[in-house]
Amino acid sequence: MEMIRFGRTELEVSRIAFGGGPLGGSYGDGFDETSAIAAVRRARELGINLFDTARVYGGSEALLGRALRDHLQSDRDQIFIATKGGLGLGPNGVMRDASPKFLRGAVETSLGELGVDYIDIYQVHWPDANVPFAETAGGLQELVDEGKIRHVGVSNFDAADMAEFEETRPVETLQPGYHLLFRAPEEDALPYAHDHDIGVLVYGALGHGLFKGSFDPATDFGERDWRRNHFLFRPETLEQNLSKIAELGAWAEERGYTVRQLAIAWTLAHPAVHTTIVGTTNPKHIEEAAGAASIELDEADLAEIDRILEGAVHVELFAPEMM
Ligand SMILES: NC(=O)c1ccc[n+]([C@@H]2O[C@H](COP(=O)([O-])OP(=O)(O)OC[C@H]3O[C@@H](n4cnc5c(N)ncnc54)[C@H](OP(=O)(O)O)[C@@H]3O)[C@@H](O)[C@H]2O)c1
Repeated sequence: MEMIRFGRTELEVSRIAFGGGPLGGSYGDGFDETSAIAAVRRARELGINLFDTARVYGGSEALLGRALRDHLQSDRDQIFIATKGGLGLGPNGVMRDASPKFLRGAVETSLGELGVDYIDIYQVHWPDANVPFAETAGGLQELVDEGKIRHVGVSNFDAADMAEFEETRPVETLQPGYHLLFRAPEEDALPYAHDHDIGVLVYGALGHGLFKGSFDPATDFGERDWRRNHFLFRPETLEQNLSKIAELGAWAEERGYTVRQLAIAWTLAHPAVHTTIVGTTNPKHIEEAAGAASIELDEADLAEIDRILEGAVHVELFAPEMM
């Protein structure tokens, strides 16, 4: 597995990271827990050392901690756990709370769920307009000082958010959504991260499953599947995009890889991106993702990919409140 220095952290991370999103059951009405545990362990065998999860992903932290238990006991310093806090489920759906009090409670809960003494990377899940960044940053610094978290990251922040946060303490990592049909982070978040040597782990490279290569437009997402309200999966968007994804798949196959590997490799080709998180409950799928880390796309390839995707519908904006 290809490894990379993770920006201004001292960590050396794998270019593919494991995503714990689907381990909480919010990607459908059910998942196979045995297979999910096997996927986590297969990731470790493949040399993946960065595992991402979040407080708001249902039972994901607990399951990830359980799947990694032996490794966490024998080689804790070789495994990096990244989790997130600052989102909760209120009576009206998802709500943001990045106050020091809420984050402290979330960190304590995450430590217990994961079964660890410290969290390697703690990320603010979404910016919270009701809490000044100085307060959030100050609260997280206290948790660093107490040894509960090691590095402070943010997710879904733009450049202005990060600059304001950094007036109080450095942003060490950024987790933006980024995929072939969601390129907004190229405007300012990725350039800011690159200029400030911030470690970047991107999510959604497979378009949350859209680029799986066999996406059925008649898919009826279950009640608990957060994607049922996502713009990318509306029938009119799918109608315009699926033929382009099929064309991209044919182009990838001519080169000896799958459309999924192409979608992952494309995110890694951005100079600001250190590692791409792939969420899965299937050991075969993480194997396939691992194979994408060695694919190199040159300028001509990137231009050809843009050409194929001309006319595709892109996501402009997504927020957790839309779930
Ligand atoms: N910071 C944030 O706000 C945020 C938001 C969303 C996600 N995330 C993080 O980023 C991770 C990745 O994002 P994501 O899970 O939404 O999207 P993703 O990685 O783009 O797609 C994951 C989906 O693709 C499927 N998949 C993966 N590999 C496959 C393969 N080889 N063939 C067919 N299907 C495949 C998975 O199903 P199978 O289980 O069947 O493989 C899963 O449903 C999450 O797990 C989470 O850790 C962060």
